[in-house]
Amino acid sequence: MESAGTGTPPAKIELTQAERHLEKALTATGIRQGSGKSAPVLVTEGLKIPDPTARHWAAFDAVRNLRSSGRPVRLLERAYGALARQSGLQGLARTLRQEWPDMDIACWSLAAPASKLDLAGALASGLGDAVLTPEGALEQVIEAERPALSGAEPYAPGVWLVSGGARGVTSDCVLALAERLGGGTFLLAGRSPVSPWPESIAETDDLKTLRLSLINDAKARGEKPKPKEVDALARAALAGREIRATLAGLEALGARAEYLQLDLGNAEAVAATLAEAQGRHGAITGLVHGAGVLADGLAETKTREEVERVFAPKVEGFLSLLAALDHAALKHVGLFSSASAVFGNPGQSDYAMANAWLGRAARQLAEDLPEASVKAFCWGPWNGGMVDAALAAHFRTRGIALIERADGAAIFADHLLYGARPDVELLVGDDW
Ligand SMILES: NC(=O)c1ccc[n+]([C@@H]2O[C@H](COP(=O)([O-])OP(=O)(O)OC[C@H]3O[C@@H](n4cnc5c(N)ncnc54)[C@H](OP(=O)(O)O)[C@@H]3O)[C@@H](O)[C@H]2O)c1
Repeated sequence: MESAGTGTPPAKIELTQAERHLEKALTATGIRQGSGKSAPVLVTEGLKIPDPTARHWAAFDAVRNLRSSGRPVRLLERAYGALARQSGLQGLARTLRQEWPDMDIACWSLAAPASKLDLAGALASGLGDAVLTPEGALEQVIEAERPALSGAEPYAPGVWLVSGGARGVTSDCVLALAERLGGGTFLLAGRSPVSPWPESIAETDDLKTLRLSLINDAKARGEKPKPKEVDALARAALAGREIRATLAGLEALGARAEYLQLDLGNAEAVAATLAEAQGRHGAITGLVHGAGVLADGLAETKTREEVERVFAPKVEGFLSLLAALDHAALKHVGLFSSASAVFGNPGQSDYAMANAWLGRAARQLAEDLPEASVKAFCWGPWNGGMVDAALAAHFRTRGIALIERADGAAIFADHLLYGARPDVELLVGDDW
């Protein structure tokens, strides 16, 4: 047994006391010395690095380096303590089992410091995915529950910050929230500027149609537009249109709406923008975190840059948002996770990790904020947002139904406002 080496040396390794115990335990039980061909490898990178993105990358890289060894792999991750130290490696194990069906790979979530756990016993028993507790191993079953409503309570409309809320499926959810609350203040954050619609071009929400109109318009003026520039112009115009439509929709429902142009990957900008916004509107009482991006690709070819791109808004962005808010004022926290975290999904190892981290973070936050309703929605594919026509067809051939936008938005608003408090991770949509 050994700890896996990584292709990329981690920038900073700080072993906590618990991890030093683990190192000792591995040595004491002879685990470090074991080198038989079928001896399992414990990947401890998932415990070592404080920064979530660097830590997940290190564990991912370590397990990829073990791909050709033919040995069983057990990823170790922390499932207790500070939010940032929570982990999404179970999403990685679930994905890699599908990408590499010949590899025996599982994830052990440590519910307590390693010194309190029977790692040697777990190894001897050949345990698969599990939560290791001081009382013994618990099978790590699919953790998200099917939602149930507990009954309607009236809420003051409040001040909401919604990352990604001006566009995509989160915008539908925001509108459903405002409708149920009968108002409220909604601050919607996203990177896109509110670009104006190009003059003399007919309005549309179809990218191809708009690109064609822009090309024809340029040609009519005797210009030869470059496809890349036309595409960028069209995407910016559509983003601006979508943002304006969401703001107008909220105002039509009697809510106040404001757009904050903000990249969640920029922690300083998040802190400054939210300090200024809360100075004007008061403390944020509802946080919805919908910002997210994909960088799909099989684990064999996945790059560190792709993992960082996916983690920047979903994981690091969430931590930056929380750091900028008064937690005592928070009454609702709604997080957009994905069924890929629960079931794994080939091509989405980074996305499954980031969303699984979000689920764990939600559970920890629910403990930290006993007065607030905290929900992480593990969505199956929607009929919209980042699910384009090709992805939609892929899910249909797998027999997975798409969530219609109005249905998803109603589920979101109802469960965030009226869901039973103990239901933190909610699985919405078909099983994969
Ligand atoms: N659609 C689905 O089927 C599905 C399924 C499962 C989970 N989800 C989750 O649901 C959420 C919304 O997805 P969607 O389908 O609506 O995707 P989308 O249409 O691509 O929208 C993503 C949103 O996130 C914002 N965003 C991305 N990176 C950001 C950053 N660095 N800073 C600030 N805002 C950022 C985008 O705005 P800008 O581009 O203007 O920044 C946009 O508003 C995501 O978290 C996604 O993971 C979606």
